[in-house]
Amino acid sequence: MAGGPNPLLLASVLLASAVATALNLRGRRRSRGGLGTPLPSEGGCVYLDYAATCPIYPEVADAMVPFLYDHWGNPSSGHAYGAPCRSAVADARGSIARLLGCASEEVAFCSCGSEADNWAILASLGGKRRHVVVSAVEHPAILACVDALEREGRCDVSRVGVDARGVVDPAAVADAVKPGETALVSVMLANNEVGSVMDVAAISAAVKARDAGILVHTDAAQAVGKIDVNAKRLGVDYLTLVGHKFGAPKGVAALYHRRGAPLRSMLFGGGQEGGLRAGTEAVPSVVALGAAAAIWTREGAAIAAHSAAMRDRLRRRLEAALGPERCAVNGPLGAGGEALPNVLSFAVRGARAARVLGDVGDRVAASASAACHSGSDAVSAVLLAVGVETELALGTLRLSVGRHTTAREVDAAADVLAAAILAADAKTHDGLNRRLGADATAPVAALKKRRGAEDPGVVAAEAAVRKAYAALRKLDKRATPEHADAALDAVDAAVAAAKRA
Ligand SMILES: Cc1ncc(COP(=O)(O)O)c(C=O)c1O
Repeated sequence: MAGGPNPLLLASVLLASAVATALNLRGRRRSRGGLGTPLPSEGGCVYLDYAATCPIYPEVADAMVPFLYDHWGNPSSGHAYGAPCRSAVADARGSIARLLGCASEEVAFCSCGSEADNWAILASLGGKRRHVVVSAVEHPAILACVDALEREGRCDVSRVGVDARGVVDPAAVADAVKPGETALVSVMLANNEVGSVMDVAAISAAVKARDAGILVHTDAAQAVGKIDVNAKRLGVDYLTLVGHKFGAPKGVAALYHRRGAPLRSMLFGGGQEGGLRAGTEAVPSVVALGAAAAIWTREGAAIAAHSAAMRDRLRRRLEAALGPERCAVNGPLGAGGEALPNVLSFAVRGARAARVLGDVGDRVAASASAACHSGSDAVSAVLLAVGVETELALGTLRLSVGRHTTAREVDAAADVLAAAILAADAKTHDGLNRRLGADATAPVAALKKRRGAEDPGVVAAEAAVRKAYAALRKLDKRATPEHADAALDAVDAAVAAAKRA
């Protein structure tokens, strides 16, 4: 008999293994669904960055699977392959409409929150009106868009500040509008860094009382899936929601557009989304968005209560480990006011959040400020707008939890974060104490002996060493590690220069 595998046998083995993989995938995911159940982690690293992106809920992934394996047709096709996809997109639209309390025709799918925000802004600027009002704490998807349009001379922008809770005053927004000229007011429903919740219903009512022709948009990216959001009760014309913030994958979002509010396609092409957005629908992602919306509609109250319990536990553990006098909570939670249940903007005096997160990056995942600008040491514009002092802003961790966060994870993360902060303190203070205890005159004394006290090089070296030590002594216990390091480096450099002189 000829050698080599039997092709029939091989084919059936491959088929069996593919089916087993698919079933296994589905079975494994199903067993992980539900509130508070842990999800797989990246090497045991605790995930506290739900505001940057939320894990895909297992049931949502399950809902996508048939549209990856079985129903991969184009929803616009008239044949058998199009129909299941078309009806899945319609079902998802219905699910979003139920979540927002609006009609299905008022929901348009798109690729991301940035697109939905840009879309609403551009839609509002289609007529003669050119003035736009935004809050100072909007996401860059709003601020960068209006800045660019302003630079191009396509609009004038007024930016309204926030109070210590991170909340915009509806009266201040109404005062900023220019009747007959303002096209759009865009104020986010919840802030991504401090978790403040804006009274968008009052803003909309106040603005429309001044001029009923003004359109109102709210970026609800951080609110949907965290608090109840009803587009009609908010009285807005446009609302952005983003899949990856509440259990759907990245790359899918929706724009609520009130019936009658202007909206036109930014993309030229096919007539998808009722002619409002060209491009074949991302069916599996759209299905996921509908599934995530249905989970919130079904168990939103439980998700919010669980998130708040995890957030408060985290706060208590950190305050206990670090000492409450050293800690502050930014935004509404610290200042008293309505807050998202899942975001904790936690400031530690004397700590440097970027350094702490760098030290623990393999054990705790969180943000120093908004994820979009993490890695940079610049003070977050939102924290500045809220009036957080610079030292606390630099020591601010944005910790965010969600449906799958467990108490065990919270406790472990709090321990790791507190230990990293205390270790950085110890390093700073040890370093300072060692240098302050050292004999500052020793390197210069040797130099003086060699070259004589009058030598200009010796005089300059002594002055530099004295200056560096004076700066070091000025640092007190609350010095950030970076300040202490900089002062220690200056001493080292002056001493080295003295030795070389
Ligand atoms: C408030 C807010 N708006 C808009 C966005 C942008 O969403 P996307 O990243 O999907 O474009 C984000 C994402 O971080 C956000 O937090």
